[in-house]
Amino acid sequence: MHVVVIGSGGREHAISYKIKESKALRRLYNIPGNPGTDTLGENISLDVSSQKELLQFCKDNTVDLVVIGPEVPLMEGLADTLRLGGINVFGPQANAAVIEGDKAFAKNFMKKYNIPTADFVVFDKKDYGSAKEYLGKVKFPVVVKACGLAAGKGVLICKDRQEAESALRECFETSSFGSAGDRIVIEEFMTGQEASVFAITDGENFICLPAAQDHKRIGDNDTGKNTGGMGAYAPAPIVTPEIQEEIERKIISPVLKGMKAEGRPFSGCLYCGLMLTEEGPRVVEFNCRFGDPETQAVLPVLEGDFLLLLYSAARGNLDKNAVKYSGGSAVCVVAVSSGYPESYRKGFEISGLEHEEDGVIVFHAGTKKDSDKVVTNGGRVLGVTAFLNKNDLKACKEKAYKALENIHFENIFFRKDIADKAIGKIPSKF
Ligand code: AMP
Ligand code: GLY
Repeated sequence: MHVVVIGSGGREHAISYKIKESKALRRLYNIPGNPGTDTLGENISLDVSSQKELLQFCKDNTVDLVVIGPEVPLMEGLADTLRLGGINVFGPQANAAVIEGDKAFAKNFMKKYNIPTADFVVFDKKDYGSAKEYLGKVKFPVVVKACGLAAGKGVLICKDRQEAESALRECFETSSFGSAGDRIVIEEFMTGQEASVFAITDGENFICLPAAQDHKRIGDNDTGKNTGGMGAYAPAPIVTPEIQEEIERKIISPVLKGMKAEGRPFSGCLYCGLMLTEEGPRVVEFNCRFGDPETQAVLPVLEGDFLLLLYSAARGNLDKNAVKYSGGSAVCVVAVSSGYPESYRKGFEISGLEHEEDGVIVFHAGTKKDSDKVVTNGGRVLGVTAFLNKNDLKACKEKAYKALENIHFENIFFRKDIADKAIGKIPSKF
């Protein structure tokens, strides 16, 4: 097969790494890719918003499958354009990608189909007055969310009325999230541990990959600012087989049925961001794609043929046995540029990447080539993943941090506690 992976982050490096293992692969193109994917296939410098050019590239190179990594091209309808042009695509059409791109849609959809989530109310910019009034009636904390895509920044947890009023100002007055904040959701604050579950689906059938846990805050013990994700591990023992069954029955099945009934069949990877509350799993958010960094921890523990899994989903005929999980574990620690998620500097040389070790993969996220060097080019720079073929997150953690000792760049920063929540817990019998 000739395969294109769209995107340039750690998630796309991990997807490409896993696809590369398939015997069915003949050619791998990453558009635009990064220095990590460059070692697996060919990086092609095309703009991912130029849908016509991408379609032409696929035709010229007899591409059998396109895997779309990020949400923005999915929301822009890249999957629709490529499919209309006769290309197989892993990733949802635009009217299904709204499950991530429009939080008001997602919340109303969950309400209609009785999918457990936080109680909520939606307000438009023109309803600013009623939104303020509403804050007089609610119990705090509440969560204020910009409805559109806000690069992971549009969620504000407000402990009291004053903070909530300031969140409303950010959305409706100072437009901190641009037009993404013109409509907001105010929702109930849920407590519990979070988990991420990926359902791979052809629109009707699905399989779930082992559950993972992300680490969203910048600092150890979940302190400081929210980030795109500072590390992840899989499998997450908190998602017991019973909870997994509940997630599939109460959340994933009804979502896929409901989306189909709405004329928005969802195929690709449905990312379920969950809060495991005392009343059971409840949805925090859906994403229309693989999560990052979770993908960097989940894919290394899969056995079998990941490419065939994605291809079968894209063709509408999911092969539920293409991959299996047989007891491995993985820990991914994200190394960032100090200052992230606020301002940070780029362009520092990264050393130690040539150091190879069994069971360790260094996924590139924000890097670029500068003549013969690899330099930092983003906030999240690398995802250092260690994996074992047994369920031992403690050993994976040690291995990942040991590997990080070989890697250097100016202003490197990483959390020291990735996977601590799971270490010592009973392993999941997923
Ligand atoms: P999101 O971008 O929707 O995933 O939200 C970012 C983070 O905010 C989540 O991972 C949670 O930690 C937190 N969050 C979002 N919604 C809620 C909620 N209703 N209750 C508690 N925490 C939430
Ligand atoms: N790790 C969170 C996300 O991918 O949105």
